[in-house]
Amino acid sequence: MRPACAVAGTVLEEIANFIRPGMTTRQIDNFAAERIKAHGARSAFLGYRKYPCHTCLSVNEEVVHGLATERELKFGDIVSVDVGVTYKGFIGDTARTVSVGGCSVKAQRLLDVTEQSLYLGIAQAKPGNRVLDISQAVQRYVEANGYSVVREFVGHGVGRTVHEEPQVPNFDEGKKNSPKLKPGMTIAIEPMVNAGRMEVKILKDGWTVVTQDASLSAHFEHTVLITDGEPEIMTWAKKPSASKVA
Ligand code: MF3
Ligand code: CO
Ligand code: CO
Repeated sequence: MRPACAVAGTVLEEIANFIRPGMTTRQIDNFAAERIKAHGARSAFLGYRKYPCHTCLSVNEEVVHGLATERELKFGDIVSVDVGVTYKGFIGDTARTVSVGGCSVKAQRLLDVTEQSLYLGIAQAKPGNRVLDISQAVQRYVEANGYSVVREFVGHGVGRTVHEEPQVPNFDEGKKNSPKLKPGMTIAIEPMVNAGRMEVKILKDGWTVVTQDASLSAHFEHTVLITDGEPEIMTWAKKPSASKVA
């Protein structure tokens, strides 16, 4: 899992540094395909349930599973980039929402709160805790900041396939016994946070999930290993990013 996750983290970093105003999400997905290949990996999303792209690129009110299109990104947009790669039989899954050249203070606050909710969730990923401890930590922080947590999509175990047990919701489902976390488990924790209401819908393309009220949405994700002690975030970038100057 470690090498696969390192590739995923590195590719995500490379994509984040590549994005500029005026680019289309198609160009970004093409770049991602190139980088994934350069690392000797394959997209774990392409072909998964017939998903047609290498990455998920979700712009502004798009929540997750945005498809690569000829849509041009403009200054101030936010785009959620989700990367899943298969490397030597294992999968790393990681996502981040970035601004295109910069964004409003309001949008940046949504990104900051969503990212922080991920790290608060990760802090609960310890043996002795349950999945519910992660869910509650994320939900509490998001709602205390006036945002809402998406219900229809959740984090998950990850290993030789993208989506494994257990499910890792970003909210309290009200179930009595959520799974216990044990050393050796690898899980993807991935809060999807809406600036407005929690409800989402799927567009006619069959994939793109958007907020019903058209409010902005952000998504951050890491693949995390449960250890005997502190959680190990496995999807960091392997090496310092390339220069941001084009
Ligand atoms: N991004 C999702 C996740 O993190 C999986 C996307 S599957 C795809 O779990 F087929 F939509 F790409
Ligand atoms: Co993902
Ligand atoms: Co995931």
